[in-house]
Amino acid sequence: MMRKKLLLSITAVMLALGMKAQLSPIILGDSHVMLRMSQSSRYLLLPVQETEDIAAIAVLDGQNNMVQRLNVKLAIDRVDYWVPYDLKGARLMDIEFHGDRRQKGAVGEFVCWREMKFSDTFDTTNRERFRPLYHHTPLYGWMNDPNGMFYKDGVWHLYYQYNPYGSQWENMHWGHSISKDLVHWEAQPIALEPDWLGSIFSGSCVTAGDEVIAIYTSAGHHQTQSLAFSKDGGRTFSKYSGNPVLTGDVPDFRDPNPFWNEDIKMWNMILAAGQEMRIYSSKDMKEWKYESSFGKEYGNHSGVWECPDLFKLEGKDGEDAKWVLICNINPGGPFGGSATQYFVGQFDGHKFTCESMPKVTKWMDYGKDHYATVSFYNAPENRRVVLAWMSNWQYANQVPTKQFRSANSIPRDLGLFRCGEETYVSVVPSKEMLAARGEKLKKPTEACEIVVDTKGQTEIVLSNTKGEQVTMVYDAAAQTFSMDRTASGEVGFSEAFPVTTVAPTFGQIRQLRIFVDRCSIEAFDAEGKMAMTNLVFPSEPYSTINVKGGKATIYEIK
Ligand code: FRU
Repeated sequence: MMRKKLLLSITAVMLALGMKAQLSPIILGDSHVMLRMSQSSRYLLLPVQETEDIAAIAVLDGQNNMVQRLNVKLAIDRVDYWVPYDLKGARLMDIEFHGDRRQKGAVGEFVCWREMKFSDTFDTTNRERFRPLYHHTPLYGWMNDPNGMFYKDGVWHLYYQYNPYGSQWENMHWGHSISKDLVHWEAQPIALEPDWLGSIFSGSCVTAGDEVIAIYTSAGHHQTQSLAFSKDGGRTFSKYSGNPVLTGDVPDFRDPNPFWNEDIKMWNMILAAGQEMRIYSSKDMKEWKYESSFGKEYGNHSGVWECPDLFKLEGKDGEDAKWVLICNINPGGPFGGSATQYFVGQFDGHKFTCESMPKVTKWMDYGKDHYATVSFYNAPENRRVVLAWMSNWQYANQVPTKQFRSANSIPRDLGLFRCGEETYVSVVPSKEMLAARGEKLKKPTEACEIVVDTKGQTEIVLSNTKGEQVTMVYDAAAQTFSMDRTASGEVGFSEAFPVTTVAPTFGQIRQLRIFVDRCSIEAFDAEGKMAMTNLVFPSEPYSTINVKGGKATIYEIK
C-alpha cells in the first residue's frame, strides 16, 4: 500500500514538473495497440512525426462506446511536435498503425509511447519564424479553406477547414476565429467536429434573424450536405436532427453556399458537383429543389470545381449590376495547381447565364497561393469582402512550417471593371488594410506595405543579406505584372514552388500596393485590375528594396 502511494506521488511530482509519464501500450499485433487512459489530466499530448503514415485511433468511453475517431501520424522514431487530445470521458484508445513500419515486434519500440504526455495545459505560444504577423493563422494545426464567413453585430466570423491533430490535412473540423477589424483575429473554440455522417468539409453560414445557420458537407462514405444551428451568434452550433438535408449522385458533391435571394424571396444555394456548379432553391434551408447546373464547357476544366460563391455586384459609373459566380479549381490554375476562376453574367433565381464566350477564362488572382476564395455573408455597406486560403494543393502539406500550416490572404473587396468587350472582377485590399497602416519606414521589414507609384516600366527587387530575392516587374508595354520567386529563399520542398507568375494588367498601373508578411507577398494594382498572391520563405526577412522606374513608400502594418 505504502509503495503504491509512493509511486503515485512520484508520478504526480513527475507530471507537475512536466516530465513524461510512461504509457504502457497493450500490444495486440504488429500494427494493433491499446492504451488505457487512467489519468485525470485534461489532455493527452500526442507526438507527431509528419513523414509517417497515419495511425487510426478509436477512442472509447468507460462503457466501451466509441466516442471519437481520429487519424494521427504518431511518432515512430522522431518527434516533430505534439498535438493535444482533449480526454473528456476517454478511457481507452484503440490504435491501428498503417504504413510499412509494421514489422514483427517493432510496434512496442515506437517512440510515441515514451513521448506521450498527460497535461492540463497545451502551450500555443508561437514557435514559427514564418508565422505571419497580420494575416490570420490557426494557433496550431492545419488549416485550408475559409468556411462559413459572416458579419454580425460588428464582428467578422471566420471558420476554416481545420485539423487539430497535426499540421497536415486530415480529420476535418471547422475551426473558428473572430475579428472586429478584419485584420486582427482572435482564436475561438472549435465550432464543428466530425460525426458519424463524416468529417466536416467546407460550407457556409447565413444569418437569419438572431440565428446563424451553417450548411456544410458531411464527408463520409459519400458527400452529403448537413445543417447546424447557432443561437449564440456563431460561437456554438447544434447539428440538425434531419441531416443530411441534400444528397447527390456524384462522388465530388460539396461546399454548399446559400444566400437569401430577395428577388424570388427564397434561399438559393450553389454547390460544386464534379466539374459543374449546381443551383438549388429552398423556403426553409431544409428542403432543397434542384434548379439548374452551370459550367459545362465554360472556363477552365483541368481540375475539380470546388468552393463556389454566387452574388450580385453593383456596376461602376452607371453600368448595370452583374452576377458573379466564383469557381475555385484544383488543379488547373494558370501556374499549376489551385486557383480561383470566376464567371460574370446574370442570375434569375433559377439559372446562371454567363455573358462571355465559353472559352473565356477569368482568374481572380494570378499568384500561385490564392485558393478557396469565398465571401462574407451579410457584410456591411453592401460590400463583397473575400478571403482566400493562401496556399496551393501542390505543396500545401510540405511548406516549411510545423506548429501550424497555412494562413489566409488579407481581406479584399470586390467590384467590377470593364476592359474591351469583357467585364472583370476588380480586387482591392479592404479599407481595413489602410486603417492598419502605421509609421512610414525607411526599409522594408518582415511585415509591411510597400506602395510603389509607377511611371510606366517598373522593376522592384526585394532582397536580404543572404542574396535571396523576389523580383517584380510591371511591363507597361506588354501590360503585364510578374513576380519571380525562384531565388526567394527556401524553394526546394516542392518542384512546383520555384516559379515566376505573370498577370495581365488590363491597362496601365499607376500605383502598386505590395503586402509583405514573413512568408507571403500580395501585390495589387491599387485600382483593382490585378492581384497576385505568392508565398515566399526567405531565411531572413527582405530588408532592401531597389526600385527602377517608380517611387516606393513603405509603411509598417500595426
Ligand atoms: C478545397 C477542398 C473542398 C473541401 C475541402 C476539404 O480545398 O477540397 O472542396 O470541402 O477542401 O478539406
